[in-house]
Amino acid sequence: MTPAIRLALNGASGRMGRALLALVREDRRFELVSALVSSISTHHGALVFPESSASLRYTREWGVVAASVVIDFSGPDGLAAALDYCTAHRAALVTGTTGLDAAMQTRLHEASQQIPLLHAANFSLGVAVLTRLLRDAAAALPDWDLEIVEAHHARKEDAPSGTALALGHAAAEARGTRLANDAVYVREGRPGARRSGSIGFAVVRGGDVVGEHTALLLGQGERVELSHRATDRSIFARGALEAAAWLAGKEPGAYSIDDMLQERLQEPPILL
Ligand SMILES: NC(=O)c1ccc[n+]([C@@H]2O[C@H](COP(=O)([O-])OP(=O)(O)OC[C@H]3O[C@@H](n4cnc5c(N)ncnc54)[C@H](OP(=O)(O)O)[C@@H]3O)[C@@H](O)[C@H]2O)c1
Repeated sequence: MTPAIRLALNGASGRMGRALLALVREDRRFELVSALVSSISTHHGALVFPESSASLRYTREWGVVAASVVIDFSGPDGLAAALDYCTAHRAALVTGTTGLDAAMQTRLHEASQQIPLLHAANFSLGVAVLTRLLRDAAAALPDWDLEIVEAHHARKEDAPSGTALALGHAAAEARGTRLANDAVYVREGRPGARRSGSIGFAVVRGGDVVGEHTALLLGQGERVELSHRATDRSIFARGALEAAAWLAGKEPGAYSIDDMLQERLQEPPILL
C-alpha cells in the first residue's frame, strides 16, 4: 500500500480549514500531521478532533511540522509563513488563499522554481470547466461585450473575487489582450458609453452565498451566459485534497487545476 501523504493544514480553524478537516479525517490517502493557525489564534492548543481519541492540537508552531504537502487557506500572512516552510523543507504547497498583491504573486512564482506549487482562486472542478468554456467563447466571439458578475457571502473581504479575476484573465488571454488594460471595476455617476473590448466586473455581497460566477457575453440580439453556482463549501475542500494528492511527488513548478483536468482528460477511460 502507498504510504499516506503527510499533510499540514494552514488556516485550519477557518471555514475552509474546518471543511478540509471534516474530509481529511476520512481520507486514507493522507495523514494529517499538523493543523496550523495564526500567531494570535484563540484556537492554539485546542484539540482538533475533540470528539475522537486523536490527540492532534491546533498549533502556531511551524518548527515542529514534518509535512510533505501543505494545504493553505488562511490569508496573505498565513500564506507567507506556509511559503517559508515549504521552500525551506521542499514540501509541496496547495494554496487557495485569495486577495494576493503583486509582491506575493512574485513570491509564489519564485517559490515554484523550488517546490511543486498549485495556487487556485477556486478549487471547484466545475469552475475549471467554466474557465475552459469561457476561453473558447471569448475567442470565438471576440467582438461581444464581456461582463463578469460574482456573488459571495457578506464576510468576504476581497473584491472582485479571485475567481472572477481569474475568469477575466483567461478571457483576456484568449482574446490576445491583458486584463490589466481591459478591466473596468467601477461604474458610477456618468462613466460614459461602454469601451469596446473592455471586461466589466460587478460584485454582489450578502448572506451566506458560497460563491456564484456568471460570464455574460453580450452580442447584438443575443447573449451567452456561462454560470457556476457553488452551494456547498466542501466542493473547494474536496478539490484542494484532490490537488494535494495529485501534486505530491511532482517536480517543482507552478501547476493549475487546469493541468490536473488536462491530465484526467488524457487518461484512458476505465472499462468495467
Ligand atoms: N480557492 C478557493 O477555492 C477558495 C474557497 C474559499 C475560500 N478561499 C480563500 O481562502 C482563504 C480563507 O478563507 P476562509 O473562508 O476559510 O476564511 P476564514 O474563515 O476567515 O479562515 C481563515 C483562517 O485562517 C487563519 N489565519 C489567519 N491568519 C493566519 C496566519 N498568519 N497563519 C495561519 N492561519 C491564519 C484564521 O484562524 P486563526 O485566527 O484561528 O488563526 C482563520 O480562521 C481566503 O483567502 C478565501 O478567499 C478560497
